[in-house]
Amino acid sequence: MKSISAALGAPMTMIGVALLLVLPHFSYASPAPLKFSEEGETFVQRLYEKTSSLQALKEKPYIEFFQWHKAQGVYNSDVKINFHGGPAFSEFRKIFNVFDNNMFATAWVTTNLLEAYRYGAAFKPTENQINLALQAMSKHMDKNVPYNTSTRVFWSQVYNKTIKYWRTEPDNLISLFEVTDELPVGALEAILKKLGLGKVAESIDWFMKAKSTFLQAFRVPADMDDTFVNLGLGALLHELKADFSSSYIKWTESNPNIKIAIIRLKDYAYRPFSKNTDENTIDPRTYFYMRGFLDKAFAAGQDIALAATWAQSIKEARKLYAQGNPMPFNINNVDVTVAADVVFGLTSAVLSGLVDKSALDDKELAQIYLNTSSLLAYEMANNLTSRPDLALAYYPSVLESYWFVAKTVSVMETALKSGPLPSPIMKEVYAMLKDLCLGAITKDILSKAQYEFEEKYFFDDFLGNGDKDIFNRPVKNYEDRMFTTAMGANALLYTWTIFDPKTGKCHYREETPQKVKTLITGIINWLSEYTLSGHFEPWNAFFSGSVKGMFNVPFWYPANRFELLNGTAIKDWSKIPRGPFIYGVEGHIPKDKYDAMIKEKHFGQATPTEFPGYNSNGGFFPFWSSDSYTYSSVLLAVARYENIAG
Ligand SMILES: *[C@@H]1O[C@H](CO)[C@@H](O)[C@H](O)[C@H]1NC(C)=O
Ligand SMILES: *[C@@H]1O[C@H](CO)[C@@H](O)[C@H](O)[C@H]1NC(C)=O
Ligand SMILES: *[C@@H]1O[C@H](CO)[C@@H](O)[C@H](O)[C@H]1NC(C)=O
Ligand SMILES: *[C@@H]1O[C@H](CO)[C@@H](O)[C@H](O)[C@H]1NC(C)=O
Ligand SMILES: *[C@@H]1O[C@H](CO)[C@@H](O)[C@H](O)[C@H]1NC(C)=O
Repeated sequence: MKSISAALGAPMTMIGVALLLVLPHFSYASPAPLKFSEEGETFVQRLYEKTSSLQALKEKPYIEFFQWHKAQGVYNSDVKINFHGGPAFSEFRKIFNVFDNNMFATAWVTTNLLEAYRYGAAFKPTENQINLALQAMSKHMDKNVPYNTSTRVFWSQVYNKTIKYWRTEPDNLISLFEVTDELPVGALEAILKKLGLGKVAESIDWFMKAKSTFLQAFRVPADMDDTFVNLGLGALLHELKADFSSSYIKWTESNPNIKIAIIRLKDYAYRPFSKNTDENTIDPRTYFYMRGFLDKAFAAGQDIALAATWAQSIKEARKLYAQGNPMPFNINNVDVTVAADVVFGLTSAVLSGLVDKSALDDKELAQIYLNTSSLLAYEMANNLTSRPDLALAYYPSVLESYWFVAKTVSVMETALKSGPLPSPIMKEVYAMLKDLCLGAITKDILSKAQYEFEEKYFFDDFLGNGDKDIFNRPVKNYEDRMFTTAMGANALLYTWTIFDPKTGKCHYREETPQKVKTLITGIINWLSEYTLSGHFEPWNAFFSGSVKGMFNVPFWYPANRFELLNGTAIKDWSKIPRGPFIYGVEGHIPKDKYDAMIKEKHFGQATPTEFPGYNSNGGFFPFWSSDSYTYSSVLLAVARYENIAG
């Protein structure tokens, strides 16, 4: 024993030092310690304080080697990398943290706090807290139009005078890459290799070589999920405007033009059966997971229009490439969680009265609303066609995607307490998504639940569960168990309990099976026991890039359109071009033909037909983790649970 630890001890220390040098920004800025001493504080109050303590109350500038930029009003979220494997890798995963000022974390935490107040009736967040967050979110408006728009961008934009264009600028991430230029990375890699830690050295090398790819990936156009998450928050504030009048006003001030969100949704929808090549072409990974849905609609002679992720067309990408702001891979995709955000944003906007119900009389919008809901139903009733990595391209958590659908059903149920749904298409969507939540989604959640003694239930995902100890034995750290359990709790609570605005209480559906009630209570037991106990990390992978390993690189999937970005078709399908290009699926490919294409190789690679899990070999991917999102999600679940009548 002694010799092993002595042999490993020295290199481990050096590796630690090396990593600290290469990646100087680890978590030096831990949040202020909390005062949990107050007697009589409820669990929900403690979670509220914990969440609130993770909001940046003041603007903090970036200081090299010392402090990340924290935009005033944002809730914390960090970019991490899913390193896994031996002890050096797991250590690397734990210490690598880059504070990131994106819109999602702040929007979701704010939404959670407001929903906990509305559906949990527990306490009221301060208007100042909400307003600071809204102020931060307002900086995520897309500035490349000559008017104030309601389309939103993941990162805020900075004006570049040379190209006369506003580009997204995640300053902390960009600074990290710039700082590494000044460090002796090569020498450190050599030391690591000498120490027999070649694999870690290779990872650092890979990371550095991918620098230009990463820098490119930091320039993103506006997207439908930020846009519709913001709209959903606006709907909630509209409903709560008597209690949060200044917040509602603040939101409307930065959203004077809600119509634009809907116009953009229509502009960039994916229309697979259209003849227009600017709207009928999609990322080959989207086509791969969605083909069953499309084949079915095609056979039934239906037309299809679906909410896509990016607010950009191929035509626009051609122009914007030069300015450094094309969508990733120059092609759009459809992500099921983005789709759920869009359906929720539209539903709640119409039901709250933020958007007039006549909006759904528009045939084009009604079609996107119906078809996108149908896609949710199809995918979620079919195990996400066994490809969660492609269907949930940016949001690895399956339980989160379920919850986002359950949110839609929940606001519809609440609306039904005061009268019929305002449009026939919404009635159709309601019937479909209610069936989905009460049926397939609940069934899957029940099958995923794990039991711990004393009536406690929890859920696991993948973070921290692919490590090995020094004897090469598997190690699991369950770093996203708390988050995943909160997602499961909310998915079930939003499905099986209904909020009645007249009483301010939630109640179980009459037909709720006893086993569902038992499970919900058991999950709340688990969350109450462990959320603040220090046994588990509050981490999550609430967001990620679409490529998470060799298994979901777009170029290994079948495609029928391959051209330079300027439109010139490429004849040689054996090589990936050096310059910018488009590789996608145009229109509908008959099933037989597509099945044959799956059997072929693409750029020398077999089609990755199976999802090997996020901890498989073959690449480490960056992801976004937000403690405040985890704590506020637990808070919401517990507050809603405690507000169940009877
Ligand atoms: C956009 O909104 C801001 C803040 O409300 C306002 O100052 C500005 O004039 C508006 N810009 C346009 C082009 O309407
Ligand atoms: C503006 O964009 C150009 C072209 O991409 C680039 O070379 C330049 O560094 C940018 N300027 C700033 C201040 O970022
Ligand atoms: C898609 O929308 C069209 C037009 O509203 C409709 O005819 C069709 O049935 C829908 N298909 C699905 C699968 O939702
Ligand atoms: C569901 O999908 C997973 C991949 O996430 C796969 O491992 C599993 O076999 C699938 N189950 C069924 C019943 O198809
Ligand atoms: C596109 O670019 C290629 C390579 O630079 C060039 O040969 C071709 O003529 C261009 N096509 C158009 C339509 O500009």
